[in-house]
Amino acid sequence: MTSEKIKKSIDDNFCYRPDFKYTHDNPYHDKLEVFNSFVLRDEDAETHVGKWSGLFHNDRPIEVEIGTGYGEFMLEYCQKNPNINFVGLDHRFKRSFSLAKKLDKLESKNFRYLRARGERLEFMFDENEVQSIFYFFPDPWPKTRHHKKRLFQKPFLNACYKILKPGGSLFVKTDHDGYYEWMLDHVKDEERFDITLASKDLRKEYPEHFLSQFTTKFEKIFLSQGTLIKSLILKKK
Ligand SMILES: C[S@@+](CC[C@H](N)C(=O)[O-])C[C@H]1O[C@@H](n2cnc3c(N)ncnc32)[C@H](O)[C@@H]1O
Repeated sequence: MTSEKIKKSIDDNFCYRPDFKYTHDNPYHDKLEVFNSFVLRDEDAETHVGKWSGLFHNDRPIEVEIGTGYGEFMLEYCQKNPNINFVGLDHRFKRSFSLAKKLDKLESKNFRYLRARGERLEFMFDENEVQSIFYFFPDPWPKTRHHKKRLFQKPFLNACYKILKPGGSLFVKTDHDGYYEWMLDHVKDEERFDITLASKDLRKEYPEHFLSQFTTKFEKIFLSQGTLIKSLILKKK
């Protein structure tokens, strides 16, 4: 498939459909194979629906991060919390390879990494299978004509609701005022979640909160520019 066609299939929300197939010709896809003891690529990420505990050989809570980027949060959080099973995912190939090299060196192996798209969440996890979802500094798609590409919208919220356990939460941080307002707008009529935190200045209002206790690579840049960190936590009822 040409890159133009790949782009169009993503534009058309094809990746939310059950018949979606990953198509690409990125060399890092093959390079990731060397890490196949903990990396699942493309459709492979969807072969453990409802069976993640079996893959980890324990019943510890499953916690998922979408858009791991360079992995600061994943690397730190899963080592500090050996009693969880962490699943990180990102769709960028080179970034996935760079993170996999670091994950490979970790002592505790309580994680899996998915080279996959966040739009596929409901095809990767079963109902009530996940304790927490983390989504930090998502691409904001600031131009109005690109807003439809924002991940945080109804299909994503439906997927989060489906895969989270009752009482489980979606944790979000963003630098972007417009995307933050967009998120608030999308949850204002939501009866399936409680909003347990909504802040336009997380670090000033909630300095002790665990979300203020770590800084991702992108967050460092935004903080150095004086940008306030916006945050939202949705808890499944
Ligand atoms: C701005 S970066 C933030 C990375 C990291 N969370 C941080 O705070 O440093 C956004 C990340 O989300 C990933 N991403 C964007 N859209 C995605 C999608 N639909 N599925 C999976 N990953 C996605 C990008 O590849 C990128 O690594």
